Amino acid sequence: MINRVYFQNHSSRNSVNLRLIGRCVGTSSGLPGVAVRRESARCDRCVRSLRRRLLGAVVRRGDSLVAAPPNGERRQDKMENEGNPHCPGDKHEEEERLEKEHFWKIINAFRYYRIYAHERVTRSEKQFQSLPAAHQKLLPNFLPHVKRLRQCIEHNYEILKAIINNCNHMFENKEYGVIDMEADLGQLKPASTFDMDKLKSTIKQFVRDWSDDGKAERDACYRPIIEEIVKHFPPDECNPADMNILVPGAGLGRLAWEIARLGYSCQGNEWSLYMLFCSHFVLNRCTGVNTMTLYPWIHQFSNNKRSADQIRPVHFPDVNSHSLPSHTNFSMTAGDFQEIYTEPNTWDCVATCFFIDTAHNVVDYIETIWKILKHGGIWINLGPLLYHFENMANEKSIELSYEDIRHCILQFGFKIEVEKNSVPSTYTENDQSMLKYLYDCVFFVARKPLHLPSLNGFPPVNS
Ligand SMILES: C[S@@+](CC[C@H](N)C(=O)[O-])C[C@H]1O[C@@H](n2cnc3c(N)ncnc32)[C@H](O)[C@@H]1O
Repeated sequence: MINRVYFQNHSSRNSVNLRLIGRCVGTSSGLPGVAVRRESARCDRCVRSLRRRLLGAVVRRGDSLVAAPPNGERRQDKMENEGNPHCPGDKHEEEERLEKEHFWKIINAFRYYRIYAHERVTRSEKQFQSLPAAHQKLLPNFLPHVKRLRQCIEHNYEILKAIINNCNHMFENKEYGVIDMEADLGQLKPASTFDMDKLKSTIKQFVRDWSDDGKAERDACYRPIIEEIVKHFPPDECNPADMNILVPGAGLGRLAWEIARLGYSCQGNEWSLYMLFCSHFVLNRCTGVNTMTLYPWIHQFSNNKRSADQIRPVHFPDVNSHSLPSHTNFSMTAGDFQEIYTEPNTWDCVATCFFIDTAHNVVDYIETIWKILKHGGIWINLGPLLYHFENMANEKSIELSYEDIRHCILQFGFKIEVEKNSVPSTYTENDQSMLKYLYDCVFFVARKPLHLPSLNGFPPVNS
């Protein structure tokens, strides 16, 4: 069996190991309407700290990583706990517990999918059966369609089982016990609607990232970013492997993978375990092209022109995910972008796609990107501003217009070199649906200047 693909292809082996560095206690898939879950019963300061730290895992190909938090994490923990009477004890034990709890909550959600999806179909079936017999007779295709929906659910469930199979070994320095998909089905805890929504969104993410059906969407979103990378770091003028490119909020990893495919050293970063389980699967477990099938649209009961549209399959991966050139430096970190990336002047390029609106405070993201970019490095961004925490009670959410963000970017010292204010694109679009969302995205390339000008003899802000 092929072992892991995510990543840093330091060795010529076709395997990648994933090592837990920090902790995982919560998640934000970052998909529209999805956010960090707050454990309100806990000490607020600890929860804040834990949430920032989250996972901190690195998936990489072929070698081991240090099982220690990134620099500065422990220092920060210490500072956060000093004088905190609520958490005098061993906070790491608590984190460990929360992280495991979170891991099993996501596994539970994957396992619960089958029950959840069938219940939804049962609802439709019952509604249909409540119709007068004469009306039912007018709709001879309805019940056969329901039967097919149930078959699709069973199939999706098999894929979900395959995805979480071995996830307990995803982190090479961390074991979570045995995942037995069939065991204790009776004792399975109902997953929340929130978690089921996240799972359904993640299933649709396969379409965007790893199917032929997602090509138009990838061309709209990823291609402009890739073209700028190639323009700024032309392979005939530099050694792409020397260029370090970071993709925060990498989703299922396709953009990062495409960048790595061109020979650049690329690291994706992702927070959500839903995404990480699935990207681990597609990058490490899938072999061949279009060998897997999912039915991503079966959960959509409205806006179907034809019943067949609801049950149409999507095949993945549309490329052989193991086809990266040997010695490609491709890695992936799991955890909070702001928490993991603290090292100044490290990256030649940071590429964000549908990401900056996942921030509680987008200025924090800008500050982090400014800090971690090398002098002369570029930030490429494409996406809308659908602020993920906007409607979340008790969640900080600073919703800035692009105008304000732009002003902020310039204040930090970035020079905007390319800017397009209207790039139409979709996100996990069902192209047969009668309802479609079109984002009118902004796209820009902003450079951290090679030499920072001093202001009245003082260094520039945040230099
Ligand atoms: C809207 S999705 C975009 C995914 C991908 N870039 C794409 O274009 O398909 C945003 C992603 O950012 C991730 N995310 C949100 N906050 C994050 C954080 N603080 N650190 C790392 N990833 C984060 C989410 O889990 C989600 O996968």
